[in-house]
Order: sequence, then structure tokens, then C-alpha cells
Amino acid sequence: MKKIIVATGNEGKMREIRMIMKNLDIELVSLKEAGIEADIEENGTTFEENAIIKAKAIMELTGAVVMADDSGLEVDYINKEPGVYSARYLGKDTPYSVKNKNIIDRLAEAKGEERSARFVCAIAVAFPDGRILTSRGVIEGFIGYEEKGTNGFGYDPIVYVPEYGMTTGEMDPDFKNSISHRGKAIAKMTEQLKELYF
Ligand code: IMP
Repeated sequence: MKKIIVATGNEGKMREIRMIMKNLDIELVSLKEAGIEADIEENGTTFEENAIIKAKAIMELTGAVVMADDSGLEVDYINKEPGVYSARYLGKDTPYSVKNKNIIDRLAEAKGEERSARFVCAIAVAFPDGRILTSRGVIEGFIGYEEKGTNGFGYDPIVYVPEYGMTTGEMDPDFKNSISHRGKAIAKMTEQLKELYF
């Protein structure tokens, strides 16, 4: 069976990826299962660049096919911040209650459509022969006026998705996974792998 190392230390992401890719005849191995410890600097300027940096670095280390992801929140009114800095915004150990309040405050003058925002996820797969595949998934929404919902993590309580009438922080976790930026990006990558890898 073909094998892909998934460059994430996050168990939740690993579970989601396994669920979406379960019908492919590919063994998915986490960094931990592969016995790899790596601290890779994500110094790209786009989600795709960061996903490629991570996938290539682990591919070069292991000689295996490697999949990596990078994600974050883009808020249009503040020039798509926090973007690739989403995890590091205001400091990586700063509580999200503070980060979320800061974003709401920066949008004090923004009304209606001006509050548009989206979660973005890019996935990259790096092959030892140099080929790189990428895919992208998004959830479009608007920044709310206060935090709502205690499900999820990070910026979930401030991203209101009009299609479902709630923030991603109010969504049932399984439902969120089924419509998430990451879910969409993984599903698109699965289609590419089906065509190219087999
Ligand atoms: P990474 O892709 O694991 O580096 O995550 C980047 C950061 O983007 C996270 O630490 C969160 O701040 C934010 N983020 C990405 N996806 C989500 C989401 O689904 N909900 C809330 N925050 C998210």
C-alpha cells in the first residue's frame, strides 16, 4: 500500500484527514507515528507557500510522500490580517478571547459587507521526484460584534457564517468538519491524488 506522511502534530486534524481520505488505498502516517520531530519555520507569505515549505522539508528529511496544511483567518477590512500570522497574532500564547476582542475592536467602524472574512486552508503534497500538488478550501463569513459559541477553537466564536445562521463556534463539531475550509481542501486533494498518485 502507498504511504503518505501527514506533517501535523495535531490529533484532531489527523482524525479529520483519515475520515475524509478513508476510501483511498493509502496508509496515512502522522509525524509521531513516523518518529519524526521537526520544528519548521513557516516563513512563507501565503498559506500555500507555508504548506509547501512544511511538506517539502519533511519530504527531504524522510524521502517519503508528505502532506502538510496551513490555515488561518483573513479579515478584508484589515487587509486580510491576521492571515498567515493567525496563530502568532498578538503573540502565540495570547488567549483567543483577547485576539478576538482585538479584531472586533479594529472593526468598530466597519458595517455590513465591510465585515467580510474567511477561513482558508491550503494543503500541499510533496513527492520525492519533485512534484508538488496544492489545494485550497474556504468558508466565507462575516466578523460578528461579539464572541458567540463555545464549540471549536481559535477564531471560531467571531466568524459568523450567514449560510448557516451561526458562528463556526456555535456549530456542532462534526457538522463544522463537514463544511470546513480544511475539509474542503482535503476533499479536493483527495480527488487530485486519485487521478495522479494511482
Ligand atoms: P495552523 O494551520 O494549525 O497553523 O493554524 C493556524 C491558525 O489559524 C490557528 O491557530 C487558528 O488561530 C486559526 N484557525 C485555522 N483554522 C481555524 C478554525 O477552523 N477555527 C478557528 N481558528 C482557526
